[in-house]
Amino acid sequence: MENKAVYPGFFDPITNGHVDIIQRGLKIFDRILVAVLKNPKKRPLFSTKERVKMIQNIFANEKKIEVKAFDGLLVEFAKKNNSRIVIRGLRAISDFEYEFQMALMNRKLNPEIETFFLMPSVQYSFLSSKLVKEVFMLGGCIKDLVPQIVEKKLRYKSKKNPRGFLDN
Ligand code: PNS
Repeated sequence: MENKAVYPGFFDPITNGHVDIIQRGLKIFDRILVAVLKNPKKRPLFSTKERVKMIQNIFANEKKIEVKAFDGLLVEFAKKNNSRIVIRGLRAISDFEYEFQMALMNRKLNPEIETFFLMPSVQYSFLSSKLVKEVFMLGGCIKDLVPQIVEKKLRYKSKKNPRGFLDN
């Protein structure tokens, strides 16, 4: 049976830390389904469609990667997509408590699904989508922090709608 893992997240936007986790996951799993949470309550900077498209663009040449948006329970989404593995990245001890709670809640909801933790390269251990947006907004360099397409889209968005950008 094909060993397919789901890698869920908000990805607003995807960072090099996420990319690093996906690349590590590809060494272990046959396929990775990147699951982009819709959740409009969180008021993302990028629409669901934009977040999905950026990830598709980054992995355009990688046949083992698929990208889909989802809402509702992650375990239901994984089951519907024939996967029993959820990948999550652990950057630091500070991530652990939240991740531990989520993994055990998901296990309670569906004991068949396992969460698989991967550590990113240490150069990304401080990185988050929120910080990338903040640094960019304040004029800092984000070149090594996000894929090129993300930097380009951030630039475009800040020019097109500087107010909307500041709201996030
Ligand atoms: O990028 P994030 O914000 O760390 O991703 C969080 C995510 C999407 C993995 C989490 O919020 C999630 O799984 N949401 C779906 C709703 C769900 O299943 N909730 C119960 C599990 S705790």
